[in-house]
Amino acid sequence: LDDETASKDLLGWFEGIEEARNMPWRKKWLDPAECEGKEEDFGALLEKRAYEVWVSEVMLQQTRVSTVIPYFNNWISKWPTVESLAQASHDDVLSVWKGLGYYSRATRLHEGAKAVISMQPSQSCKIPSGVVELQKIPGIGRYTAGAVSSIAFGEAEPVLDGNVARVLSRQLGLYVDAKDKKSTDAFWEVADQLVKSVAGHPEKGRSKTPGQWNQAIMELGSTICTPKPKCDECPIRRTCRVYAEGETLSIKKAAAT
Ligand code: ADE
Repeated sequence: LDDETASKDLLGWFEGIEEARNMPWRKKWLDPAECEGKEEDFGALLEKRAYEVWVSEVMLQQTRVSTVIPYFNNWISKWPTVESLAQASHDDVLSVWKGLGYYSRATRLHEGAKAVISMQPSQSCKIPSGVVELQKIPGIGRYTAGAVSSIAFGEAEPVLDGNVARVLSRQLGLYVDAKDKKSTDAFWEVADQLVKSVAGHPEKGRSKTPGQWNQAIMELGSTICTPKPKCDECPIRRTCRVYAEGETLSIKKAAAT
């Protein structure tokens, strides 16, 4: 998976379907070069982007994309910035969330927004970019921190959810239970190495790639590399250990009959 062609195949595949799925939080990548000399604007835009990624990832944690889209749009039009959310009443927050379920997520988002506002009142982008800082915000765990850091800020930080663990497990032929605590740590380690080797360009500063890479693996895991995988459609079956072993087995079987 970390060979250059495979990573290009995966990123290329994701670019191709991004349009089709048209998720509102995926629209804009902010290139710092385009905002040169306009630090204030850039800070504010970056903050909006980080806030949108944060909201979308919390909504997506237990809910399907198609259900989330209208809720996300509604939420962002009501509270377009982290400040506006921090100032909302809790009753309002719960009523806009109504229908999405798992209401503690709404409460955590609201608490998190209030904490961000009280944490760093003086900077132009109040949402921190690093995963350690992000995890100091109540309600933001390792996954959401990785998503915000990579997708909004372009940092080479990993994300790991059940879908990502399944893709990595198959690609690398790990044959472990992705839910076991020890293997979870190992998966985080693998995901970290991958995003840093494939998508990290520390010499070039922040880039679009880490966020695209993370989202591409998540997307592959939720649409193709599913529990019952559609390997024929997989853009990276060439580097997949489990796929290769399946092929070997069927060739042997064919040869034996
Ligand atoms: N599932 C949860 N968040 C996602 C994202 N940003 N891209 C693709 N799938 C996801």
